[in-house]
Amino acid sequence: MYKIASIGGDGIGPEIVAEGKKVLEAAGEKFNFAIEWTDFDIGADRYLATKKLVTEDDLAELKKFKAIYFGSIGDDRVKPGILEKGILLALRFHFDQYVNLRPIKLLDGVETPLAGKGPKDIDFVVVRENTEDFYVGIGSRFRKHQTIELDVVRDIYNVKFGLDVTSDAEEIAYQIGVITREGARRVQTYAFNLAMQRKKKLTSVDKANVLSDVYGLWRDVFLDTAKNYPGVTTEFNFVDAVTMWFVKNPEWFDVVVTPNMFGDIITDLGAMIQGGLGLAPGGNINPKGTSMFEPIHGSAPKYKGRGVANPIATIWAGSLLLDHLGEHEAAAAVVKAIEASIRDGMVTRDLGGKAVSTSKAGSYIAECVKKGC
Ligand code: IPM
Ligand code: MN
Repeated sequence: MYKIASIGGDGIGPEIVAEGKKVLEAAGEKFNFAIEWTDFDIGADRYLATKKLVTEDDLAELKKFKAIYFGSIGDDRVKPGILEKGILLALRFHFDQYVNLRPIKLLDGVETPLAGKGPKDIDFVVVRENTEDFYVGIGSRFRKHQTIELDVVRDIYNVKFGLDVTSDAEEIAYQIGVITREGARRVQTYAFNLAMQRKKKLTSVDKANVLSDVYGLWRDVFLDTAKNYPGVTTEFNFVDAVTMWFVKNPEWFDVVVTPNMFGDIITDLGAMIQGGLGLAPGGNINPKGTSMFEPIHGSAPKYKGRGVANPIATIWAGSLLLDHLGEHEAAAAVVKAIEASIRDGMVTRDLGGKAVSTSKAGSYIAECVKKGC
């Protein structure tokens, strides 16, 4: 019996998680395991009613679970950033989910915008660091007349621009990216281990030519870590260049490891080359703690309740969840069933096909898992 927490969240989140649960339960029937769900009411509605984002009680309860199945967060009635930072990032950080695992795989039957490329060419995994870099939340914005406490920033202001902090001059803001040796080591080690199970090729993506302190440390740690994996071929790519190569030669990549913010950016590009955000899953993993699986798309509020949302990214995230629990056969069966639903055209309108509803698309995949198709 697996006890799994679920957070539907906002917008289309609850609808797509409902489909994911159907499919995971079907996988349980087929592969002989049971799931007990515990739903958490976390999201915009509760925030608007109570001003609570994620409470101490929520965290204490969620900590009891090895996995959280997460829908999406974001609502037009709440200022952008509040829910994203206060819920999604808060959970990633609180549970120290330092690996953000994002497969970039073109499924059979899905169209990619990359001319001449097919499923054999687009099949890699991005391991995004998930707890450091520019996401640590250290920064400040100074308005006119405010004292700038940070010497280096004050110097830029005074020396470079010849401006007096106390005058009526411009505003200034800074944000700090943090990389630690341990933070880089643990996520890179995860990526090396993953590369060992795949094609034994690992690409580190950074911007060490310009942001040479933070990403210089990232590179040093990578070179040290690589010594433990002589069987893995390694390379460094700069993030600007890697966006070109993802488009031109996606077949070059197997496992990619990268700091948080670049990982955020290049996985949206990755999502597009694998057919769009409706098809891109992610896992936020702490191998020894509470992990969380989600589609990488947002809550698409305008599609809420209309039965048109594509549940595939969430169902695929469910497959990553099963993998994480060690149910590898079931996880593979879920991906195969997703592919079957695409082949049979039993997909939502964004993918063309028969333009079925969210619930029909989910049920078809669930049936496929149960009966095989
Ligand atoms: C993602 C999202 C989040 C991120 C936002 C919503 C905070 O873009 O999961 O990629 O930046 O990590
Ligand atoms: Mn993102």
